[in-house]
Amino acid sequence: MTTPTWGPLRSFGRIKSRTLKPRQAALFETLLPTIMVPDPVAGPIDPRALMAGAREVWFEIGFGGGEHMAEQAARHPDVLVIGCEPFLNGVGSALRHIDERGLKNVRLHAGDAREVLAAFPDASLERLYILFPDPWPKARHQKRRLVQADTAAEFARALKPGGRLRFVTDWKDYASWALERLTREPRFRWLAEQAADWREAPADHVTTRYQEKLLGDTQPIFLEFERV
Ligand SMILES: C[S@@+](CC[C@H](N)C(=O)[O-])C[C@H]1O[C@@H](n2cnc3c(N)ncnc32)[C@H](O)[C@@H]1O
Repeated sequence: MTTPTWGPLRSFGRIKSRTLKPRQAALFETLLPTIMVPDPVAGPIDPRALMAGAREVWFEIGFGGGEHMAEQAARHPDVLVIGCEPFLNGVGSALRHIDERGLKNVRLHAGDAREVLAAFPDASLERLYILFPDPWPKARHQKRRLVQADTAAEFARALKPGGRLRFVTDWKDYASWALERLTREPRFRWLAEQAADWREAPADHVTTRYQEKLLGDTQPIFLEFERV
């Protein structure tokens, strides 16, 4: 996979580290082609057409090793869960979870979520998850952060009224940055009423692999928005 030379700045780090384990490499050949989101550059994508009878469509940006995505899909077999992740070792790990758990309601894009989002019609998603996005803490790198004014507008466009966006980070500065940009988007309403609402994980949250590493400078901050 090559890094696109067009479009938005790259918001992710490496796309490959160690060599894929043989079993995961095999799943790239067998399972991935059967659950891949159509090429978003080729034209619009109707997410509902990707799974007949899907009750809702949920979208996860940067699923890492895929633990959260797989667990949510297992808990909600009637929901179509679409995940995007350019880090190929993460995709390999997600394929393993999907295979081992026999999940039929997950679709993947091994690349930039912003391309897929742009191909979705307005109001096509019920939930959007951004969990521990790359923090880009240095000031000169902050333009690479996934949450920007234009992506906030895209998230609002793609979500249905009444839909939810969950943003979680363990970097204080990124929490303020995201809160500022997402509350400035008039189609989002921040749902917090008291400190516990952003300090405590929502009841349906699934702990992610990155979360366990405790790499940030604060406890996780959970920001939950409703698309009004
Ligand atoms: C710090 S990791 C967190 C992974 C996972 N959410 C977790 O909590 O374990 C952030 C992930 O977001 C991915 N990412 C960054 N920008 C992305 C984009 N534009 N589209 C899809 N994934 C992206 C990165 O490749 C990386 O794997």
